[in-house]
Amino acid sequence: MNRRKFLKVSSAIAAGVALPMSVTRAFAGASPVAIPDVTLNNGVKMPRLGFGTLYLKDDAGVDSIADAINLGYRLLDTATIYGNEEFVGRGIKKSGIDRKKLFVTSKLWVDDSGYESTKQAFNISLKKLQTDYLDLYLIHRPRGKVKESWQAMEELHQQGKIRAIGVSNFSPAQLEELMSYARVKPVINQVETHAYFQEMESYQSLQKQGIQMEAWSPFAQGRNNMFSDEALAAIGKKYNKTNAQVCLRWHFQRGVVAIPRSSQHAHRAENLDIFDFELSDSDMQAITKLDLNTTQFPEWS
Ligand SMILES: NC(=O)c1ccc[n+]([C@@H]2O[C@H](COP(=O)([O-])OP(=O)(O)OC[C@H]3O[C@@H](n4cnc5c(N)ncnc54)[C@H](OP(=O)(O)O)[C@@H]3O)[C@@H](O)[C@H]2O)c1
Repeated sequence: MNRRKFLKVSSAIAAGVALPMSVTRAFAGASPVAIPDVTLNNGVKMPRLGFGTLYLKDDAGVDSIADAINLGYRLLDTATIYGNEEFVGRGIKKSGIDRKKLFVTSKLWVDDSGYESTKQAFNISLKKLQTDYLDLYLIHRPRGKVKESWQAMEELHQQGKIRAIGVSNFSPAQLEELMSYARVKPVINQVETHAYFQEMESYQSLQKQGIQMEAWSPFAQGRNNMFSDEALAAIGKKYNKTNAQVCLRWHFQRGVVAIPRSSQHAHRAENLDIFDFELSDSDMQAITKLDLNTTQFPEWS
């Protein structure tokens, strides 16, 4: 593919436009896969599809993370509470990729909230991840000393140790409260959202505020039989895509960053293969109708 064609293809992908098969094959054949970016409200670019690492640990976890990177994932999502930052760090090293080409997210757990404790927890995360900066650091849950934690994160951001700061699991009201005292606007709210819990109120208010929505559990971990859902399967059949791919494409066209996790190479590859088709308006509407408007994880609420 020559440079001109490459640029045309890249901008088409960035715009979320479906590409003719002949063009996509050039990407699909050449590993790793190119994932489009979104520009966050502070100008930092972030991949629109990433890799979740919850439960990925030990040598198998390290291998999964290294393999994900080699397949083309650049955004890695971890958290202190997952107890796996050291394995994510080892996976990054094992992949052999230049750290600067990755977008690494970690999260501050509730027990570490507070001004000094946030800085301490952040430094421990850096050490475990074998890095000297984070691309994104999130307050994991809106509990504890949120204001003090945010102040510490603002300082770490201003010192250049974190490229972007944000929150997770904040309701629109909790985000409003944080913004009443924040000197640095959050770039992201990472929330549970998927076909069965579309979080329309949060989705619309984040859009208005210019804050990126990021989907955790974009497959609801397969709950409510998402991987065998007949409505999703009927849509997928038209494009020769699986339910997982339809879900991820729906997130992508909705403008939501998704971070699917998989312990299997075949699933990790499948989840990246979503850039050569486009869901029609009626497909998108059919998925909208699947909304149950309730969490699939009541035990985490
Ligand atoms: N901020 C928060 O509070 C929060 C909470 C939860 C999660 N997260 C983040 O969000 C990430 C993703 O969420 P999650 O890990 O809870 O669940 P998920 O990504 O919704 O689902 C993971 C499950 O889907 C299966 N799967 C993946 N790809 C598949 C495919 N193509 N076909 C069939 N099955 C497939 C995986 O099984 P296999 O391993 O067998 O492929 C695994 O059981 C987490 O890893 C974490 O980084 C954040």
